[in-house]
Amino acid sequence: MVNYKDLGLVNTREMFKKAIEGGYAIPAFNFNNMEQLQAIIQAAAETKSPVILQVSKGARAYANQTLLRYMAEGAVQYAKELGWEHPQIVLHLDHGDSFELCKSCIDMGFSSVMIDGSHLPYEENVALTKKVVDYAHQFDVTVEGELGVLAGVEDDVKAEHHTYTKPEEVVDFTTKTGCDSLAISIGTSHGANKFKPEQCTRDPKTGRLVPPPLAFDVLDGVMKELPGFPIVLHGSSSVPQEEVDTINKYGGALKDAIGIPEEELRKAAKSAVCKINIDSDSRLAMTAAIREVFATKPAEFDPRKYLGPARENMKKLYIHKIINVLGSDGKAL
Ligand code: G3H
Ligand code: 13P
Ligand code: ZN
Repeated sequence: MVNYKDLGLVNTREMFKKAIEGGYAIPAFNFNNMEQLQAIIQAAAETKSPVILQVSKGARAYANQTLLRYMAEGAVQYAKELGWEHPQIVLHLDHGDSFELCKSCIDMGFSSVMIDGSHLPYEENVALTKKVVDYAHQFDVTVEGELGVLAGVEDDVKAEHHTYTKPEEVVDFTTKTGCDSLAISIGTSHGANKFKPEQCTRDPKTGRLVPPPLAFDVLDGVMKELPGFPIVLHGSSSVPQEEVDTINKYGGALKDAIGIPEEELRKAAKSAVCKINIDSDSRLAMTAAIREVFATKPAEFDPRKYLGPARENMKKLYIHKIINVLGSDGKAL
């Protein structure tokens, strides 16, 4: 049994409280490899932003949970080496789907876990979330639950249609489970194709797809029921068109890729939404940079020559999110 506090990590409790009071949101970036982690830590250290490092079930399968945990421990030391005196870094399990998986992460030093029972019947979601909370709270590990279903398809997160969170359920759910934060569904979704073209309109000037607006009325309803309670938004990548264009220019085939407009995320960050999940944008930034090197320098075969630019491009993206979208810069000095 390893306690995350011995690793220099923190849970989300204080971080979320300050974020809600301060009208900003904490970035939750997924990582699967060293270059992503380096870019996240460099960006957080340079901007002095609290940060949540997220490990999905797919990331565990790809990179190994033990290795990722030690990388996160190393990240705390690395942050200090970069001159960040008091790094506030959370190691979080993203979309945990069983009690056993959450327990395994908690026992290994994660400071926060998500138990995603959103696909289950309501009472089963309550029971599973409560079981995880009861275990996690013994070690002061914080727990994110979820109500409502996001549309989208990724390795381990699949749903054809979204179901908005029902504001009338949130008090009952959070009271019965004791969860520390709640992920809700207001129209965001996972991946780089968040909306079907038929759900969008087209900008006549650029020809680009314009997505339908998020359901801020549902968020307002949730905040009215649960004043000051930490709310989480998944599926919050913006799918930057310049990255999509670079990928397609250099041989990619991303069709109708579309994300959540940054203005909507800025608005959400000022509310009780205090954790915003971003994974796909980092994948796009990495892929765009690598494709460009492969296409323009075909004789290059040293991985550092393409993973290095990929890391730089991800770092630029993370800094942009922190400063211009979430407003979390300077909140962890
Ligand atoms: O919400 C899902 C995250 O983007 C993780 O995706 O399951 O492909 O690692 P993944
Ligand atoms: P994106 O696919 O929009 O980056 O969402 C990531 C996410 O919600 C991770 O849990
Ligand atoms: Zn998610």
